[in-house]
Amino acid sequence: MAVPDKITQEVSELRAQIETHNRLYHALDSPEIPDADYDVLVARLELLEDQYDLLIPSSPTQRIGGEALSQFTQLTHVMPMLSLDKVSNEKDLADFELRLQKRLGDDGELEYSCEPKVDGVAVSLLYRGGVLQRGATRGDGVTGEDITHNVKTIPSIPLQLEIAAAPALIEIRGEIFLGKKGFARLNRRAEEEGSKIFVNPRNTAAGALRQLDPRHTARVPLQMYCYSVGIFEGLALPDQLGEIFKLLASWGLPVNPDISTRVGIEACQTYCTELLARRDSLEYEIDGAVIKIDNLVTQRRLGSNARTPRWAMAFKFPAEEKTTRVLDVEFQVGRTGTITPVARLEPVFVGGVTVSNTTLHNMDEIERLGLSIGDTVIVRRAGDVIPKIVKVVRSRSQKNRKKIRLPEACPACGSAIEKDGEVFYKCSAGIICPAQRKESIKHFASRTAMDIEGLGSKLVEQLVDEGMIGNVADIFLLGIERLADLERMGNKSADNLIAAIDKSKQTTLPRFLFALGIREVGAATAQQLAMYYGDIGQIAAADAESLERVPDIGPIVAAHIRTFFENPENLALIKALQDYGVRWPEIAVDANAQARPLLGKTYVLTGTLQQMPRDEAKRRLLALGAKVAGSVSKNTDCVVAGPGAGSKLMKAEALAIKVIDEGEFLALLDALSQ
Ligand code: IVH
Repeated sequence: MAVPDKITQEVSELRAQIETHNRLYHALDSPEIPDADYDVLVARLELLEDQYDLLIPSSPTQRIGGEALSQFTQLTHVMPMLSLDKVSNEKDLADFELRLQKRLGDDGELEYSCEPKVDGVAVSLLYRGGVLQRGATRGDGVTGEDITHNVKTIPSIPLQLEIAAAPALIEIRGEIFLGKKGFARLNRRAEEEGSKIFVNPRNTAAGALRQLDPRHTARVPLQMYCYSVGIFEGLALPDQLGEIFKLLASWGLPVNPDISTRVGIEACQTYCTELLARRDSLEYEIDGAVIKIDNLVTQRRLGSNARTPRWAMAFKFPAEEKTTRVLDVEFQVGRTGTITPVARLEPVFVGGVTVSNTTLHNMDEIERLGLSIGDTVIVRRAGDVIPKIVKVVRSRSQKNRKKIRLPEACPACGSAIEKDGEVFYKCSAGIICPAQRKESIKHFASRTAMDIEGLGSKLVEQLVDEGMIGNVADIFLLGIERLADLERMGNKSADNLIAAIDKSKQTTLPRFLFALGIREVGAATAQQLAMYYGDIGQIAAADAESLERVPDIGPIVAAHIRTFFENPENLALIKALQDYGVRWPEIAVDANAQARPLLGKTYVLTGTLQQMPRDEAKRRLLALGAKVAGSVSKNTDCVVAGPGAGSKLMKAEALAIKVIDEGEFLALLDALSQ
């Protein structure tokens, strides 16, 4: 068959690309594309080679993985470390069982070991006489690297098996990985130290294992789960994988507790569905499930291809990371005027949804990522969390990159932009800015606030643009006739909306407070405020000192609440809303909270108190609802320092925590105990 030039060229380009990515991944440990994108390249190449008969022995499709790293001693796996075939839907998984039954000449149900496909690095551990002798990476499947020193730093890997009569030799295979908590802890530390943030747990684990100095490896809290036995001598193993796992666990080897034995492929499909549903709550990252024939005799009968065993199948879950391109960056103005850069992306299917834009948070984040418009980026969306750009993929061929600049004026109203705190910028115009107005109305109508059904984002924009509403109170003046005239709105929808607006007038004080959109007052704080004061008039009149006694309210939130209620326009708005019929039932004041004005506050006592024994001071603080801690941290609200105060006082000053002396402390006790 004559092969079109276009195809020959595509095949050679694909091979070159795959080779490059293999090198980046295996040898340099610096992948530039997510695994899912790599798999697409390989699948396309396999398809073309097959369709046009272009297969050559040196094609990357004929190799199991990449090259080995040169700095480490290379070694050969006596039994090659194979890869897995993959499916991503139930039908293909069912076909896997049909193929097995056909090959075995028996259509009876088969027993499977269903396992999480842990996203880490495959390793081989060799135990001689029960003692860990060697740890190796998989490398290209045949040749790996000796990482014994690094493997020995992993606490869950036993240096000696807990077995009286140890086998002469046994090779344990499994996955070394970094758990989600360990990853978060590392990144918290990196952030504190101002060092590089790690992109994802798998790359971090791979990087840690490739450290030449094991002390660097030991800084990363790596873990391991075993998933098979390679070569062995001097013992008889059970015939069932499930039994082998029990044996390994009894020797002190880490076995994944989420492995389960199931009968029939349907039960395996259920396992996959259940595992996918639990993906977020698992302590480690997975990229799918592995379904293996449980019986080792059957495994041997089925045998292997060059790269993959016939008796196992990976069921891939949707990738949580994909590459895409940043088409543009727009600046959005939020409810309180904060200007947020938002990246418009070439739409990409990631973590189960199509993502076409994502927040960049602030200009510092853009700087940290080194992002420009036109860049190729890795987007991550895990579970329900909002998608985020985790890394810019550097490529020399990248053309037409455009620097991202903060606009000179508010993109919605043209007013001046001012700095707001350390990293944010805001529009200086306040509520006259149409964007801020729209956002505050959307927030007011939203489900957790006044819950006006049918008054969504699009409609609010339309109503503000048409000049039909200018603030939240105007919502209650909307008439049927004008509404029904709006584009895409008939009599019926207008009727429904009016009814929903009417219904929303019966609300609760926490909802109303939250709906007002006071800076930093979320639903929980609104609830606390409502319970503490019980009345909007009292909240409006409360001074900062009083507000700070409300659980979880500190000086910053108290100041925002004061600023809001000191603005006569806001007071007028609240009055208008009440005049238009917005009502809420009376709320029982939490007498306990009032009686314990320091509820939620943490105090630290240090130095010597002259007029009151320290025990008494502590008892009085506890009675007022405060917690009394022994050391100063960022969660401390106030430090009471007497003469002789030392390191705690210094730490409080370094963290800018309020410090009072004994006189001020006694005055505070007096004031609060009245
Ligand atoms: S079995 C011959 N079981 O997936 C079978 N692999 O794409 C070899 N992996 O290199 C692997 N969890 O790094 C197996 N429970 C599990 C696994 C697992 C993760 C990884 C392993 C392997 C890759 C295959």
